[in-house]
Amino acid sequence: IRAAAGSYADELVSTAKSVASPGRGILAIDESNATCGKRLSSIGLDNTEANRQAYRQLLLTTAGLGEYISGAILFEETLYQSTTDGKKFVDCLKDQNIMPGIKVDKGLVPLPGSNNESWCQGLDGLASRRTVVSIPCGPSALAVKEAAWGLARYAAIAQDNGLVPIVEPEILLDGDHAIERTLEVAEKVWSEVFFYLAQNNVLFEGILLKPSMVTPGAEHKEKASPEAIAKYTLTMLRRRVPPAVPGIMFLSGGQSEVEATLNLNAMNQSPNPWHVSFSYARALQNSVLKTWQGRPENVDAAQKALLARAKANSLAQLGRYTG
Ligand code: 13P
Repeated sequence: IRAAAGSYADELVSTAKSVASPGRGILAIDESNATCGKRLSSIGLDNTEANRQAYRQLLLTTAGLGEYISGAILFEETLYQSTTDGKKFVDCLKDQNIMPGIKVDKGLVPLPGSNNESWCQGLDGLASRRTVVSIPCGPSALAVKEAAWGLARYAAIAQDNGLVPIVEPEILLDGDHAIERTLEVAEKVWSEVFFYLAQNNVLFEGILLKPSMVTPGAEHKEKASPEAIAKYTLTMLRRRVPPAVPGIMFLSGGQSEVEATLNLNAMNQSPNPWHVSFSYARALQNSVLKTWQGRPENVDAAQKALLARAKANSLAQLGRYTG
């Protein structure tokens, strides 16, 4: 059997380890142009390339970011963009010891034969797999299997090309179900994902996971405390994720900035076999956007807002966030 990692094994392990380094996590800015447009319109800006460039420049040139951020996931357009002074964004990241990453999926389309569920395109000609599982719609056995198999193929192809795959079956928050139901679905999804990762000879030391936290559905009548979310999420991870996996980088999934930080902090109150950290988009960017408002005179304050969120989550990664 040939491992998918092939000759890149050492490099993959060291890349994954450097992203999973203490007190640091991932800044997800891999919004597609359409999603970036939604964020810009929330502050009254048009979805032009110039506005997307200005916003990404603000984020990626924040001085001191590398202390708290170990990796940044970029959208393809961003990979080739530069600052207004002509410095490649990728070089801005490298100067701060932040590993650049690239989103490779091509979006969601309906999954025929399922309960109105979706699957993620992009395997043809390589591509990625961030995929979603919806609890109110099922999830059907078909949708779970398709998601898990697609993620495993993506992970094998990425490793074969020397890239550390971020394996992300996002279990959506939508629904009025209790936390126990989310746990049940998450266990099912992760057991299938690891079954197929193993079948595809993926090197577990050279991947990173991006799970959703185990929470009640967003429309459930009661909210769960950070301690309860930590308890359920860690139960799921301990049951399903081998300690060979170096980093668990949670997505924020629509939680508020403070909720996402408190939940991460609660998970790091006792030692874990993995590095339990963040790969937040909205929970790192919401107040940045609000502060910026598209005005050059607000760039400094917006960068300070980004650093404040990044620092709070860095402390949460270490279990030392006090609010
Ligand atoms: P959120 O933190 O906004 O859920 O996004 C994370 C993500 O998956 C982006 O890649």
